[in-house]
Amino acid sequence: ARKIIIDSDPGQDDAVAILLALASPELDVLGITTVAGNVPLDLTARNARLIVGLSGRDVPVFAGCGAPLARDLVTAENVHGKTGLDGIELGEPVIPLAEPHAVDFIIETLRREPPGTVTLVPIGPLTNIATAFSRAPDIIERVQQIVLMGGAYFEVGNVTPAAEFNIYVDPEAAERIFDSGCEIVVMPLDVTHRALTSAEWIAGLRGLGNRAGEAVASWTDFFERYDKEKYGSLGAPLHDPCTIAWLIRPELFSGRRVNVEIETRGQYTLGMTVADWWGVSGRTPNALFMSDVDRDGFFALLTERIATLP
Ligand code: BDR
Ligand code: CA
Repeated sequence: ARKIIIDSDPGQDDAVAILLALASPELDVLGITTVAGNVPLDLTARNARLIVGLSGRDVPVFAGCGAPLARDLVTAENVHGKTGLDGIELGEPVIPLAEPHAVDFIIETLRREPPGTVTLVPIGPLTNIATAFSRAPDIIERVQQIVLMGGAYFEVGNVTPAAEFNIYVDPEAAERIFDSGCEIVVMPLDVTHRALTSAEWIAGLRGLGNRAGEAVASWTDFFERYDKEKYGSLGAPLHDPCTIAWLIRPELFSGRRVNVEIETRGQYTLGMTVADWWGVSGRTPNALFMSDVDRDGFFALLTERIATLP
């Protein structure tokens, strides 16, 4: 199985991504590292422990950076609710927080495992990964791939007119990642806004009769409200699970290798992913920027895997 570390700020869609990964035999989740993003770090670390508890699997959760590299934290309780994981009452986490700090776990794991065998899956702001790369530059060439959710091209922004949340929260960290030379796969809003839940799909999850299906249905019901009111969208965009689905079934997605630069100074465009879709800049491509998803295939995969959980 392919070894991955999920770096996350759960978040209902992060939660679905984590459950999908834990339910998939193609993937070996070495650990879940948490970062401040949708809500502050104490809550994202707590939520990740609740999600692992729900999965019935044994995977360690590490707490990482509580603030972006160079800016004040911007959170998204307006989308995800006060806890970051509103929608269903999950009680208290049963698994403890693991040691060490998430950044040390990332560094130690990449140094321990054979080069080119560990993939990083960041689905929140990129602070932990950037900090690990700055502190231990030797690990950069040991990374197999980075498969991240962030950015936008034709779809523009969801937090400002130009920027997507994960990149906007820590643009300096994102810049570090896109400049790293690692092989990067990006799931931008262009893809994730097509991964929209439907009422039938949510009903199907409830029909599974397991607790994980009930939780995912309740989270997406909650999460959907924001996008429906804000954009008149027909369902909830399952942003973060696109990364995991790509690792399992890459044929569900299509995209293009392009150059992506991160705007860190723009007055109106801070955190924008400037993706050179038409190759006009002459800059070397540094990422596989995805643009479409087979929606039916994606949701069928999710249901199939969630059905295997308790
Ligand atoms: C991203 O921001 C968060 O709110 C979601 O969890 C996702 O990672 C979408 O812009
Ligand atoms: Ca997220």
